[in-house]
Amino acid sequence: MKKVLVVYQSKTGFAEQYAQWIAQALDCKAVSYKEWKKMPPDDADIVIYGGGVYAGQIRGLRAFRETMSRRSGKQCVYFATGVAPSDSEKVRALAVSSFSELDRNDAPFFYFQGGLNYENMGFFDRSLMKLVSRAMTKEREMQGPETRIPDATRSFDYSSEQFVQPLVDKVRSLSAR
Ligand SMILES: Cc1cc2nc3c(=O)[nH]c(=O)nc-3n(C[C@H](O)[C@H](O)[C@H](O)COP(=O)(O)O)c2cc1C
Repeated sequence: MKKVLVVYQSKTGFAEQYAQWIAQALDCKAVSYKEWKKMPPDDADIVIYGGGVYAGQIRGLRAFRETMSRRSGKQCVYFATGVAPSDSEKVRALAVSSFSELDRNDAPFFYFQGGLNYENMGFFDRSLMKLVSRAMTKEREMQGPETRIPDATRSFDYSSEQFVQPLVDKVRSLSAR
């Protein structure tokens, strides 16, 4: 069995919660990106990296990938969590913009819907999110009662432990190879 490690960057707790659910299912450790940077490079054979989505980008992904490019022979698996519903066009666009065509096959990516936690946000993020939420409210109103866009004017939590199962299955198949 290969050694697996989960690394996360989380501002308000959603990516951290997902990292912990994944680590529990795979019986491995979940560490913050900061902790991971201090760990020896031979920490794991498979590294799962996850972060929140901010302004259409996975937080910390670029820095993580730069570090990993200097550590050869490791398989990476990625996840992200945001407010967008998992079947939305925004999530498809996120996958395309985050991974180039060349490494898409080599970089399994999973998206889990999270939520918003205004209480845990810093002043800047809270102010920005309030602005964004107004635009989202307009979009919701245009779509009518069938809309799947969440009400972003308040905190909510759509995260679920069940969402991580496809990622867990993928990592199990990789670690059995
Ligand atoms: C300033 C700001 C920008 C955000 N931008 C996006 C976005 O572009 N797409 C999205 O789906 N969610 C967006 N979100 C929502 C976060 O991705 C969501 O709250 C996520 O679950 C946070 O994860 P974390 O607490 O682990 O960092 C944004 C939130 C804030 C505060």
